[in-house]
Parts: sequence; structure tokens; C-alpha cells
Amino acid sequence: MQMTACSKIVKSVFENAHALNSGHFIPYLGLGTYLSLDNNVKRSVADAVACGYRMIDTAKYYHNEAEIGEALQRVLPANNLKRKDIFLTTKVMPQATTSLTHEDVEDSLKRLSTDYLDLVLVHYPRNYDNCEDNDPRNREQRRNCWIALQEIQANGKIRSIGVSSYEPRHIEEMMEYSNAYPSVNQQEIHPHFQRNELRDYCLKNGIFFQAFSPLGRASGELLNDPVVQKVAKTHKTTAAVILLRWSIQKGVGVVPKSINTQRIAENFKALSLELDEKEMEALNGLDQEKPYVEDCGWLVA
Ligand code: A2P
Repeated sequence: MQMTACSKIVKSVFENAHALNSGHFIPYLGLGTYLSLDNNVKRSVADAVACGYRMIDTAKYYHNEAEIGEALQRVLPANNLKRKDIFLTTKVMPQATTSLTHEDVEDSLKRLSTDYLDLVLVHYPRNYDNCEDNDPRNREQRRNCWIALQEIQANGKIRSIGVSSYEPRHIEEMMEYSNAYPSVNQQEIHPHFQRNELRDYCLKNGIFFQAFSPLGRASGELLNDPVVQKVAKTHKTTAAVILLRWSIQKGVGVVPKSINTQRIAENFKALSLELDEKEMEALNGLDQEKPYVEDCGWLVA
């Protein structure tokens, strides 16, 4: 196995992991891949797995599933790992019919060269491609997508199902046709955009809260926040590591995106430091209700 400074920390998907309401475990830290394409995404998957990451997060919409599938075919055996040692997440958009979601998932399975997915999320409360925020079809399309995901989960090709950018009202609406709360709600989360009410709602209902863009897309405002910088200095680490650790310590999963070997390894260090109560309080005090990503699920009817 290729050893790096951090590869000894995680040996299986069960370490540093949370038990979902489906009974399966999800690692707290994974590799994000939005905007990672072609050879960059292949290399980042190789770097991440060698470093100790055991979760890769993608989506049909990211147009990189085939490259991730190809990379894993090579990288898993090279690191003495098997498919079961990696947690693979993908996402599909709400659709006009349940058959379209069945097709979407079959296509993702093929592109990712796998016979099952660990987690499939409804990517967004509306289909980016064919519906506006107020489109009356949104509700119906979310329903179709979820019913199909439940069917595929029952057939064993998906282990856990969840949602992304859903507000409580989107989740409550699902109770008309779902046999359980979603396992995961993935949202933009970081100290400048904490979503505490939504987090409490998810916690209360056994829904794992997971952050996309936990670095706020590397926003200078967030990375250079004086409080974050001060905590980083105390721990002789970077602002990025502190931001990721803050989420993890609050029980929120993170999937930071990077195509840079050094930053992939740096981000992994978030698993191996501890912030004290005062540091957590100082970071908790930074909420500005300020998103850095354009996704605005709260606007979708
Ligand atoms: P790169 O891929 O060149 O490393 P987010 O996950 O919040 O959406 O952030 C992704 C952005 O953050 C990307 O631009 C990524 O660039 C950058 N990034 C990832 N890790 C770090 C880090 N440790 N320090 C600074 N920027 C980072």
C-alpha cells in the first residue's frame, strides 16, 4: 500500500463514521468533486484514497462519474482495497417520471463501474435543467424521484438515500409518500452559514447533516476571517483544517473539493485535531447567514 503521512488514520469506512438511519455507516470526511474534471478528478481520487479518504462524493450533474469509476478500478487494488472499503455518493435530479430516475441511477452505476451505490441524494428540490423555482411540477418531480430511489434501495442497488438543499417543508412533504426520513441532507455549511435551525430539525429527525462547500468555495472572506486565522495559528495549521474540524466536531460531515495533492492531504488532517470549547464557541459566533454558493433550496416551491 502506498503510505503517506495520513494514511494510517483511517483503515475502513467504519472509522470516523456516523451510523445512518439506514443502518449503514458514512465517513465524516470525504472528497468533493464538483468542478473536478478529466485527469484532475482521476488524480484527486488517487491522491485521496492513498491518503486515507474512504468517501468520494459526485453527481450526475458533475460530469465526472466515468472518470471516478475508471480511477477507482485502478486505485482500489493499488491500495489493497476493495469496493466495500469505499463509500460512493452520487446525486440525481427530480424527474418527470419514476422511470427516468431508474434510468439515471442505472447510468450512474455504469459510469461509476459499480453494482451498488452507498448513497444517492436527490440533488436539489427542483430539476436545474427544466424547472424554475416556482414551477408547480417541482413537487411532483421530487415525489417521482424519491419513490424510484426507494424502489432501487429495496432492490439493493442503493444502500442509503437522501436529499440535498432541502428545507424542512420539502422533507415534511415527503412524509406523504416516504416510508422513512431521508438518511442525509447535504447543505452548504460553514461558520459563516451555519443553518442552525435546519441542523436541529435534521438532528431531531435522525437525518445526518452533511456539508458541501465546507470551505465556502475557498472564499477569502471565510479563509481569512480573523477568528478562524487565530484558531489556526494556535494549532499551527491552516484555516481550511479549522473550518473542516469545526463541522466534524459539531457532528456535520464534510466533502471538501480539491484537485491539489497537498491540499487533499492537508484537509484530511481535520480528523486528527481537537478544538476546545472556547474555540468552538468563538467559531459558532461567526454566523452571518451568508452562503458563498448559488444553490438556494429555500427559494424552491
Ligand atoms: P483546489 O481544488 O485547487 O484545491 P469547497 O469544498 O468549499 O467548495 O471548496 C473548494 C475550493 O477550495 C476549491 O477551489 C479548492 O481548490 C479550494 N481548496 C480545497 N482545499 C483547500 C485548502 N486546504 N486551502 C485552500 N483552498 C482549498
